[in-house]
Amino acid sequence: MKIVLIGYMGSGKTSVGKVLAEELHIPFRDLDFEIEKTEAKSIAEIFQEKGEIYFRKLENRTVEFLLSEKDDFVLATGGGTPCYANSLSLMLDSPDTLTVYLKTSITNLSNRLFREKENRPLISHLKSEPEMKEFIGIHLFERSHFYNQAGLIIDTKEDSPNTIAKRILEELRGER
Ligand code: S3P
Repeated sequence: MKIVLIGYMGSGKTSVGKVLAEELHIPFRDLDFEIEKTEAKSIAEIFQEKGEIYFRKLENRTVEFLLSEKDDFVLATGGGTPCYANSLSLMLDSPDTLTVYLKTSITNLSNRLFREKENRPLISHLKSEPEMKEFIGIHLFERSHFYNQAGLIIDTKEDSPNTIAKRILEELRGER
C-alpha cells in the first residue's frame, strides 16, 4: 500500500513519514525533495525565480508521476499539494493508496513554524508570532476543506513523530 501524508506546513509529514516508512519497511519519499532534485534548486529559489504557479504545476505533475509508480512508499507531500489542480483526486483515486491528514492545532503549527520559516516562501515574510498565528488561522481555514477529505484523519496533539506513526499503524491494522 502507498501512504500519502497531507497537512499544513509544520504538521510533521516528513518526520512522521520517515518513521512510518521504516516501520513498514518501504521507502520514504518527500515531494518537495523530489521537486528540488528535478529542478536542482531549493523550493525558495523555485518560488523566487519561477513563481508559485510554476511550482504548483510541477508539484501536480510530480504527484501524478510518483503515484503511477508500481512500488509502495510513504510520501510526505507539501502543505499545499492537495489544494491545487487535481492532486487530491489523484491521491484519493489512486489504487491501494491511503491518504492521511495530520491535523495539527494553529498554536502548535505557529510555534513550530516561527522557528522554521526560512525555506518556506509562503510564510518567511511574517515578522512576529501573532502575525504568524493569524496567517495560519486563515490559511488553514481555506485549506481544511481539502485536508478533511483524507481517508484517515489523525489529530497529532502534542505527540512525537514516533507516537503519531504508531497511531497510524494501529489504524492500519484495525487495532483502534
Ligand atoms: C507549501 C508547503 C511547503 C512547500 C512550499 C509550499 C504550502 O512544504 O511545498 O513551500 O503551500 O503549504 P511543507 O509543508 O513540507 O513545508
